[in-house]
Amino acid sequence: MASSRTLYCYSLIIISVLFTLSEATDFLVGGKINAWEIPSSPSDSLNGWAEENRFQIGDSLVWKFDGAKDSVLQVSRDDYLSCNTSNPIAAHKGGDVTVKLEESGPFYFISGAKGHCGNGQKLIVVVLSKGRRHFYGISPAPSPMEFEGPAIAPTSGASGLVVLRSGFSGALIVFLVGMVL
Ligand SMILES: *[C@@H]1O[C@H](CO)[C@@H](O)[C@H](O)[C@H]1NC(C)=O
Repeated sequence: MASSRTLYCYSLIIISVLFTLSEATDFLVGGKINAWEIPSSPSDSLNGWAEENRFQIGDSLVWKFDGAKDSVLQVSRDDYLSCNTSNPIAAHKGGDVTVKLEESGPFYFISGAKGHCGNGQKLIVVVLSKGRRHFYGISPAPSPMEFEGPAIAPTSGASGLVVLRSGFSGALIVFLVGMVL
């Protein structure tokens, strides 16, 4: 039979997990400032970075780059594939861009700088519905490549995940558990 202290401890963990579920994350695109550029090699592609992350409704993408040289265009799948910059869904300028991911499914982004998209400066982010990251965490995230069509080899880039706002819930759990033990 569990002691009341153990039950208290479990309830704190459950509260902390629920807190984690409600937490939105800001993802710095490419894991670093000025990552919004033509990739130096295919393994350096931003879609390699995107594959290593799990995006949920309510999370945000953050771009930091020289706004005088580039922009971020959110486009349709067709315009993503053909690198057509002439009819974006949204054009983000200024070099300090935040896009909140308000729905699940694929989001397509290309560079607004001439010729850059054709050289690989493009990004697909697939947003999962809320909670899926945690409750179905074992199943693989949908790959951006599934939304891009055939003939593109999956990348295995090991670029680091940088979450601007993270670790707080983990620290909270450790703190609360530490208090009752
Ligand atoms: C880009 O899209 C527009 C509208 O769909 C089309 O008129 C134009 O020809 C396209 N440009 C290229 C280069 O494909």
